[in-house]
Amino acid sequence: MNIKIFDTTLRDGEQAPGFSMNLAEKLELALQLEQLGVDVIEAGFAIASIGDFRAVSEISKIIKNSTVASLARASKQDIDRAYEAVKIARYPRIHTFIATSDIHMKYKLKKNEEEVIKIAREMVKYAKKLCNDVEFSAEDASRTRPEFLYRVLEEVIKAGATVLNIPDTVGYTTPQEFSKLILGIKENVRGVQNVDISVHCHDDLGMAVANSLVALQAGATQIECTVNGVGERAGNAALEEIVMNIHTRKDIYPFTTNINTKEIYRTSKLLSTITGVRVQPNKAIVGENAFAHESGIHQHGVLENKQTYEIITPESIGLTENKLILGKHSGRHAFSERLKTLGFNLDNEKIEETFTAFKALADKKKVVSDRDIEALVMCQTVQVTQTYSLDRFTINSGNTITTTSSIRLKYNEEIIEQVEASYDGPIAASYKAIDVLVGKNFILEDFMINAVTGGIDAQGEVNVRIRNNKGKSYNGHGISLDIVEASILAYISAINTMLDDEKTSN
Ligand code: KIV
Ligand code: ZN
Repeated sequence: MNIKIFDTTLRDGEQAPGFSMNLAEKLELALQLEQLGVDVIEAGFAIASIGDFRAVSEISKIIKNSTVASLARASKQDIDRAYEAVKIARYPRIHTFIATSDIHMKYKLKKNEEEVIKIAREMVKYAKKLCNDVEFSAEDASRTRPEFLYRVLEEVIKAGATVLNIPDTVGYTTPQEFSKLILGIKENVRGVQNVDISVHCHDDLGMAVANSLVALQAGATQIECTVNGVGERAGNAALEEIVMNIHTRKDIYPFTTNINTKEIYRTSKLLSTITGVRVQPNKAIVGENAFAHESGIHQHGVLENKQTYEIITPESIGLTENKLILGKHSGRHAFSERLKTLGFNLDNEKIEETFTAFKALADKKKVVSDRDIEALVMCQTVQVTQTYSLDRFTINSGNTITTTSSIRLKYNEEIIEQVEASYDGPIAASYKAIDVLVGKNFILEDFMINAVTGGIDAQGEVNVRIRNNKGKSYNGHGISLDIVEASILAYISAINTMLDDEKTSN
């Protein structure tokens, strides 16, 4: 049995604080999700904003192999907007939902069961007239009275739903209880054998993956999940954990998926680069330590036979460390071959740009590792129009003087320069100077710095999040051997992203 993987990173994931993405970033991630092999990409909630609508429709234009879905509340206005955004997709889907639990119906919807059933039936019928593929979600299904849930589901099947989604909206259920619910649906809902049963589990009690997996055993045929488990509150079931469980424990989960597991690491990394949110080091499958063996006993075992402590191989998720060293003497050919090995299919222009960045790095760093190359590519891929770019900077700093930073930027073709001082060090002084040059003040909401590899000559990777005076936040990324330069580049990149967004939303 082949299980459908429905990815909602761009909708439920993007909804979570700190995970907002701009259009270019959403398109990049959508393409990577297609490369990963997900069956459905939930591209957004089209009615939520103009930006969301545009993202869903642009994703619908470029995705060829996966279904593209937009979320819609059970209302004509929402459904019309969702369809308008996905109609151009090769495989469009409208995903409509209404809450069915007593608590949601009473306090949120202020409607009784009969009213909710009527809305669900009529809105699925309405959506079906526009689009053949209609998914219906009974929000808070796991806290819904089962008999009522069965009735709602039976009605929406009659109205034309092709997928029934059973969300554990608040991450409350347990494996035993959820399994019973899915079995109950299979037993009590007429027509259920003709549609897909989907599950959508949140991780408030850390059970999202376990609940999703038991649902599969009980008969679910679609899993909704997100890359790195991002999503509302504690997040959603992590795609990589679901897929690798199925992949590793075929004896327990006799299923297949269309996921190319070798794309898992790259997808996870791309999301972290875009959002600036790294996964915890001990995160299953994609954490930095997921394949690290520290203790002597473990190392000894692994040296004798990897399977003593390794149940999945790093290669199976696309993590490779090439033994062939790249350095300043490596040519364009060797470099582009390495890009291919690492799974990047870049066009000639992008290869050229990345090669230039690689050469500059190799001039300063003896050995350029695969992680360095990945960081360079990821940083280049998610760049928007470079309205401002760094021409040069000079810092005068010390622990007994006030730091000054002189920043020279290119603004279109013009060179502009500003010197500012700060007691708070070179980054604060530089950001102050940039604010003056751009003529705006930003709130620095988040600043994160990481070393791409170990070693004194490691590249510094900086992610920042700034907020403008309209209350909108933007992420920026910068990478350099010099951490002050990486910090300046990250700040400028966030400003360019904001300017790009302002241009496209006008
Ligand atoms: O968690 C949830 O219930 C949802 C639905 C809208 C599918 O995200
Ligand atoms: Zn959700």
